[in-house]
Amino acid sequence: MNPSTPNDPNDISRRGFFKLTLGWLAGTFAIIASAAGAVRFLVPNVLFEPSQIFKAGKPEDLADGSVTFLEDERVFLVRQGNTYRCLSAICTHLGCTVNRTEKGYHCPCHGSVFDDQGNVKSGPAPRGLAWFQVTLSKDNRLLVDKSRMVAADKYLVLPTKV
Ligand code: FES
Repeated sequence: MNPSTPNDPNDISRRGFFKLTLGWLAGTFAIIASAAGAVRFLVPNVLFEPSQIFKAGKPEDLADGSVTFLEDERVFLVRQGNTYRCLSAICTHLGCTVNRTEKGYHCPCHGSVFDDQGNVKSGPAPRGLAWFQVTLSKDNRLLVDKSRMVAADKYLVLPTKV
């Protein structure tokens, strides 16, 4: 074996070896970080939420003239004759659940008052309660879609005899 001289271009000093190793590590890290970023870019940001559509039972289960509160869904089902509607129970101020009163609805948090059509009568609520689309499913159940707001005068009208 021939010992190398200090001016030999193939000679790698300890410092040179350290720089070379550091360069390789930095390059490898950059490639891995770029690959991880590219893979992460392919995975969509998805927020899993429960469905906004739910079945609310048979129409005949609601008494004529009734307003039925569904706690899990935070809505009121309103039946008047052969018409069916669904009103949100979520206050438009800060999202508390409103209570049914004789004349409409009342929010216990800051005192907003809504009439029986969900319109604001008083309080800090900026707008009325939302009405949701109600349809009839194939198995004869009320189907509420909370992602579809409708005007207060939009009803599901069923034949008189249900
Ligand atoms: S949350 Fe209903 S009035 Fe504030």
